[in-house]
Amino acid sequence: MKFSLFLLCFHAATLFVTAHRSALNDYQRSKGLELVHMNNGGVKQEIQSEIQVCAKQCSDLLDCRSFVYNWKSQSCRLLPWTQNSANVLLQRNVQYDLYQKKDYIRDCVVGNGNTYRGTVSKTKSGRTCQRWRLKFPHDHKFSPIHWPDLEENYCRNPDSDPEGPWCYTTDKNIRHQYCGIKKCEDAVCLTCNGEDYRGSVDRTESGKECQRWDLQTPHAHPYKPEKYPDKSLDDNYCRNPDSSERPWCYTTDPNVEKEFCRITKCKKQRLSNIEITSTCFKERGEGYRGKANTTTSGIPCQRWDSQTPQSHRFLPEKYPCKGLDENYCRNPDGSEAPWCFTTLPGMRMAYCFQIKRCKDDVLEPDCYHGNGELYSGRVSKTRKGIKCRRWEEKRNDLELSLDQPYLVPLEENYCRNPDRDSHGPWCYTMDPNTPFDYCAIKPCEGEKC
Ligand SMILES: *[C@@H]1O[C@H](CO)[C@@H](O)[C@H](O)[C@H]1NC(C)=O
Repeated sequence: MKFSLFLLCFHAATLFVTAHRSALNDYQRSKGLELVHMNNGGVKQEIQSEIQVCAKQCSDLLDCRSFVYNWKSQSCRLLPWTQNSANVLLQRNVQYDLYQKKDYIRDCVVGNGNTYRGTVSKTKSGRTCQRWRLKFPHDHKFSPIHWPDLEENYCRNPDSDPEGPWCYTTDKNIRHQYCGIKKCEDAVCLTCNGEDYRGSVDRTESGKECQRWDLQTPHAHPYKPEKYPDKSLDDNYCRNPDSSERPWCYTTDPNVEKEFCRITKCKKQRLSNIEITSTCFKERGEGYRGKANTTTSGIPCQRWDSQTPQSHRFLPEKYPCKGLDENYCRNPDGSEAPWCFTTLPGMRMAYCFQIKRCKDDVLEPDCYHGNGELYSGRVSKTRKGIKCRRWEEKRNDLELSLDQPYLVPLEENYCRNPDRDSHGPWCYTMDPNTPFDYCAIKPCEGEKC
């Protein structure tokens, strides 16, 4: 009796979990982009509905691979292609968000990769794959007629081989070979505490699916992507926005709020993008490695390897890249400036503003007027901190559909606003998941955003 009751509860719990899963979890969102097919403008039908319903409809259709959602009209268009399809262009359009099925655009595999729908068509030794519909040079049973996902000569895993996607090769002496596409947890490795991890693992270490950062169910939370643009809280990917030990996510299991994710560590552990200083600090002082050991008002700092009088989570061995030596002022958590725990029991922590800002870091910050269409400064970084791509490196999948000449020349990789986007200067980025983004420049003082 006890046993069957347990089973019943277990079953009910499983149902509950699946009910909380959003159909959006299968999609990767790109803000402000749409897909344009060059020969086929035919898909014009707009479905008036909520975004979740659009996602569900697309998931239920075998030939739907993406959809664009129009925020103004609250409607979507289901599309049979992705940015990787032939004759398709990504285009900027601020009214739209593009949602593409992860399986088609992710360049890593989940599990054995039997859901992989990407476009790699070479084996790991560099041999070209044979088209699945051909029986030459190798005859085989995997016909696209029975396995519609066997497209072109793309690597696939129709027989769920534990080694992952493979293909027949065009070399008559080598029948088939694995494609060596990395698992997502190995594709992008972790340095330090993974605050800059931007990979696409979307499961926790116990195997639970992550909740999207842009949803508030099943768990309500403060990490809304638009509030933390520099943390890249994309889709439901594991991230570390709060200086935890490792990337984590909220889970889709209502009974487990959040959990760490398992991601391979990089062989080389080094700080990227952070300049080390010792007599002054730059930006927020995350690279400060000097020997200041008191707070602004002169209170001695507590050693990082001690738990008295303040007990805390910043153990030096858990934060190997943060320089938590002795009792020196540091900034391991993205605070405004270097700080420390104090040796006064009644005062937990305090900043160390006796350390000065470095001289070359006190320049007047850049700003723009109006929409910034006349902005001609040298900022070349997005608000997420991603480096801008040079304008002349026009990507063939990204078309700047504008009439020249521009008001301000598109020089170097400087932020510009050639299309008078109402959100201000922007640029194409070096990050393939964020083809363009707005820049780290604010409207000038006294002007409205
Ligand atoms: C601070 O560091 C100096 C040496 O740099 C040392 O002489 C002093 O004792 C330290 N003070 C505290 C409070 O740890």
